[in-house]
Amino acid sequence: MPSKRMTTRKPASPPGYQTVGRATTITKEASGVCLRADSATVELTALAPDLFRVGFFPQGRAVDYGSVALVSRDWQSGPVTVGEDAEEVTLATSAATAHISLEPLRIGFDDHAGREFALDDPELGMGWFTAPGDLPGVDLANQSGTLGKPVRVYKQHRAGEHYFGCGERTGELDKTGSHQIFWNVDPPPGHTALQNNLYASIPFTLVLDAGRAWGFFLDSTTRVEFDLAHDDPQRAWFGASNGDLVYYVFCGPTPADVLARYTELTGHTPLPPLWALGNGQSRFSYETAEEVREIARSFRERDIPCDALYLDIDALDGYRVFTWNPAGFPDPEGLLAELRGMGFHTVSIVDAGVKVDEHYPVYTEGKERDLYCKTPQGNEYQNAVWPGICTFPDFTNPEARRWWGDQHRPLLDAGVEGIWADMNEPALFIPPNSTMPPDVIHPGGGKAQFHIQVHNAYGSLMAQAAREGSLRLRPERRPFIISRSGYAGIQRHALLWTGDNSSTWEHLTMSLAQLQNLGLSGVGWAGVDIGGFYGDATGELLARWTEFGIFQAFCRNHSEKQTRHQEPWLFGERYESICRAMLKLRQRLLPYLYTLFEECHRTGAPILRPLFWAYPEDKATYSMDDEFLCGDTLLVAPITRPGVEYRHVYLPAGSWFHLWTGARIDGPAHVLAHAPLGQPAIYVRANTALPLWPEMNYVGQREADPLTFVLHPCEGSGSATFYEDAGDGYEHLNGFYARRAITCEVEAGHIHVEIGEQEGALLHARRHTRVELREIASEPGAVHAGKAATWRYEPEQRRLIVDLPETAASHVIDVSMG
Ligand code: GLC
Repeated sequence: MPSKRMTTRKPASPPGYQTVGRATTITKEASGVCLRADSATVELTALAPDLFRVGFFPQGRAVDYGSVALVSRDWQSGPVTVGEDAEEVTLATSAATAHISLEPLRIGFDDHAGREFALDDPELGMGWFTAPGDLPGVDLANQSGTLGKPVRVYKQHRAGEHYFGCGERTGELDKTGSHQIFWNVDPPPGHTALQNNLYASIPFTLVLDAGRAWGFFLDSTTRVEFDLAHDDPQRAWFGASNGDLVYYVFCGPTPADVLARYTELTGHTPLPPLWALGNGQSRFSYETAEEVREIARSFRERDIPCDALYLDIDALDGYRVFTWNPAGFPDPEGLLAELRGMGFHTVSIVDAGVKVDEHYPVYTEGKERDLYCKTPQGNEYQNAVWPGICTFPDFTNPEARRWWGDQHRPLLDAGVEGIWADMNEPALFIPPNSTMPPDVIHPGGGKAQFHIQVHNAYGSLMAQAAREGSLRLRPERRPFIISRSGYAGIQRHALLWTGDNSSTWEHLTMSLAQLQNLGLSGVGWAGVDIGGFYGDATGELLARWTEFGIFQAFCRNHSEKQTRHQEPWLFGERYESICRAMLKLRQRLLPYLYTLFEECHRTGAPILRPLFWAYPEDKATYSMDDEFLCGDTLLVAPITRPGVEYRHVYLPAGSWFHLWTGARIDGPAHVLAHAPLGQPAIYVRANTALPLWPEMNYVGQREADPLTFVLHPCEGSGSATFYEDAGDGYEHLNGFYARRAITCEVEAGHIHVEIGEQEGALLHARRHTRVELREIASEPGAVHAGKAATWRYEPEQRRLIVDLPETAASHVIDVSMG
């Protein structure tokens, strides 16, 4: 271990690459070892039984694991056995063993089931570049001497391995054979896989091999590249353009295990306010208060659900952040109060750039406090963005983050409830689509760094400032922060939306994989702009996009200035009614989605997830990225081409019911679904309760009573969990939440449903829970559901409806057929 392979391969040592040689042990700790190899310090530490950290600090660099990606926590590795002989040091936890062969130094892992993974390549292992070649940032490294050379680790690529995740990627789900760049940019329109890197970078991959998963996270905020058996089909390499090589290996063995640990390491998605799950409407830009009012009125008059309205940069005074355009928005407090009265929440944009203007207090204050990024000569770094010449807060400086957070006060005081952090790659206009030069200085409040070292963290740090500011200013409310850019760990500060997509069928197609890729990278709360940003949408595109968009964790329609307006009613009655019906379905699904958010918050499980999440053993799912699971209960297969009504759907093992017709299909099966406009291919898992609210147009419109559990009984059994709380604030931490298990067992014509006793002390104003059993072919012989229950059978709808009083006690329903 790692074993030598007999197969031939091209001599792949790139020019200037120097792999580490012989290692000697320096210290052995309870859960880790420290070694020296050539000029490098190498550490291997077990943080948890299934999580190892490797630190490679070449050329005498100091050991440093500090990172904006990580949450601080005391890791418990459990018992670790450290072994050593002349050839190898081993670190064995209760789940896996790390092997370090000493001559030369190579690292690999196996688990107690005998699976080997993340094995260093025997020839190339870990190393650095002595000759810079044409790697970006290297000239700078040579000038300063402080950045360090490019570093890399080569791992063996094993024949059955498939790579997934890698953050915000529009390319397909399976990344095997691809080369991935991690460097945040504001890309030109298009966003195809050729563009490669987009606004956010999450250097993490989940690897599946014959149903068993492991994960790899390279923690570096400089430019990172993953070569996933692209250059050489027998190797994968992971490298950073300068500095240290710190990586984490997650042993799995399920995808859920990997994501659970990854989100323990990098943080969990906070519970959002419930309204943030509703539909949002945006436009670059609604230019006056009157236009915003008109949009708000239209939603209500047209009976189309909407919870949030977004104000883009034209609501600002000359695009200056934290201001209001006095002409278009003379009375923001009044407007926002009015909108709130109509059930809308208002979200306001905040860009990273601060307009250079001596009469603008935000600018002058930041300048006086010396909180901006600098040129290498020590002047304020400036470039053009929307407001003209801007300067940029140094978000690596805690004082700058705090100051920035405090700037949100006037917005929140005016009634803004969500912050939309934008242009935070940072995006610059000179030259177009550029970002800061690598040698810009982030003074960091004492620990100066070059921009290249922190580039990928800039967006996350800005989002962090917004979230922490919101928490300080409104401690009783859950912040709502949306960000365009981010790094690993962004999920704990903000949701990520995927920036400036296009109103094309191609972009709709790409969105399906893109959101699955993000979900597999710890960002469960994500969404693409429904209808597309650039270009003109058509009614059919918007309708199909909305059919998909209602299953995104973040559901918002947004479009660009020069384009056709995209509100759901602008394309004629046919498309309006489809959008209405879909958004009403989303609103009915909120208790289900909220339950999924709570799961995501607790475990890192994405909301919109690939089929292999639940079926890692089923290889047919590895490339199935044109359909997905929304939670555990729903399988969705959107139509993403114009004029198309039929499509192939793969249904994995288990029984599934078509939402609209009730037809049952037993998987695994490939089926041709009929999905005319307005009836997208949606399947519900048998015996699995789907919680639904009554129809509403916004959260809080009225009491969500009754809560309905829809169930499709079928021979066998299933279970689901349901979670709810006040939907905002923090009382759930004091026990005021409700969690219940719902099980359904069907055997020999007998249906047994149990709603478990409520865990948690949430008190409901709701008075009824309804259980709706679908696809019940005939009137049941007997229904027992307790004295207080009532029931009726609806033969035409083939459903049995049982109404129960809402109590914390458990409920049992027994139905005998025939
Ligand atoms: C950026 C954002 C876009 C926004 C525009 C104007 O392009 O990605 O969503 O509308 O800036 O603020």
